[in-house]
Amino acid sequence: MTTPLLQTRGLTARFGGVTAVDQVDFSVQPGELRCLIGPNGAGKSSFFKMLSGQLKPSAGSVTFNGIPLAGKSTAQIAKLGIGIKTQVPNVFDGLTVRESLALAAERTLPPQAAKTRVDATLDRVGIADLADRKVGQLAHGQRQLVELAMVLAPSPDLLLLDEPAAGMTGDEVLRLGDIIVELAKSAAVVVVEHDMAFIRRIGRVVSVLNRGRLLTEGPVAQVLDDQRVRDVYLGRSA
Ligand SMILES: Nc1ncnc2c1ncn2[C@@H]1O[C@H](COP(=O)(O)OP(=O)(O)OP(=O)(O)O)[C@@H](O)[C@H]1O
Ligand SMILES: [Mg+2]
Repeated sequence: MTTPLLQTRGLTARFGGVTAVDQVDFSVQPGELRCLIGPNGAGKSSFFKMLSGQLKPSAGSVTFNGIPLAGKSTAQIAKLGIGIKTQVPNVFDGLTVRESLALAAERTLPPQAAKTRVDATLDRVGIADLADRKVGQLAHGQRQLVELAMVLAPSPDLLLLDEPAAGMTGDEVLRLGDIIVELAKSAAVVVVEHDMAFIRRIGRVVSVLNRGRLLTEGPVAQVLDDQRVRDVYLGRSA
C-alpha cells in the first residue's frame, strides 16, 4: 500500500456533552473516490469540518500528505490542497459565476493563472453558459454545480463534498455523478451523500459513520447490503 494522502487517528469532536465524532481512524489514498454515509447526526459534517480546519478536533490527529494539520488555519489547509464543499451553501448571490470562481482560484494562484483556471473549471463542470449570470439567479442544482466548481478551481488534491446532490433534479444528479467520477481521475474525492442510488452509481469503497463511530468500510455493494448498515438507517442501533 502507498502512503495515504489523508490519515486520521482517533479523530474526535465533542460539543459539550455530545461526542459528534468518536475516535475515527480513516484514510484515503491518492486519487481514491470514497463515499461516506451515515444517518442524520452521525457526525459526517463535523468530521469533514475537522479535515478542512473549520472545526478544531477535541482529540486525535489529521495528517495530509505527511503533514500534521494541527493548529493550521482553513486558508493554510486549503493551500496544502484540501478543498471542501460544505453542506450549507457558501456562495455570494451578488457575484457572477465567473467572479465567484475567480475568488476561489485566487486563493491559491496568481491572477493570470487563476483566470486560465476559471475558464478550464467552467468547462470541466459544464457551466460555461452560466459564467456571466449572478449566482443568486440560479436554480438550486445550478448553484450546487457552481459551488463544486469553486472548490475545484484551486485544483485541490483532496476534494470533500458534503451532500453535493442535495436539491438537484434527477438529470442533474446523473450529471454530477459523471463529473465526480471524472474528477476522481485527477484528485482524491470523498463524498457524503444520503442518495443511495447515487452512492451505488459512483461508489467504490464506502465508509459508514454511526453515532460518531466508523461502523464499517468496504465495497459499495457489500456495505449497502450489510444488515448493520440497514439497521442504522432504520433507526435501530448497531
Ligand atoms: N456546532 C455544534 N454545536 C453543538 N452540536 C453540534 C454542532 N455541530 C454538530 N453538532 C451535533 O453533532 C452531531 C453530529 O452532527 P453532524 O452535523 O456532524 O452530523 P451529519 O452526519 O452531518 O448529519 P446530517 O446527515 O444531518 O447532515 C449531532 O448530534 C449534532 O447535533
Ligand atoms: Mg451533515
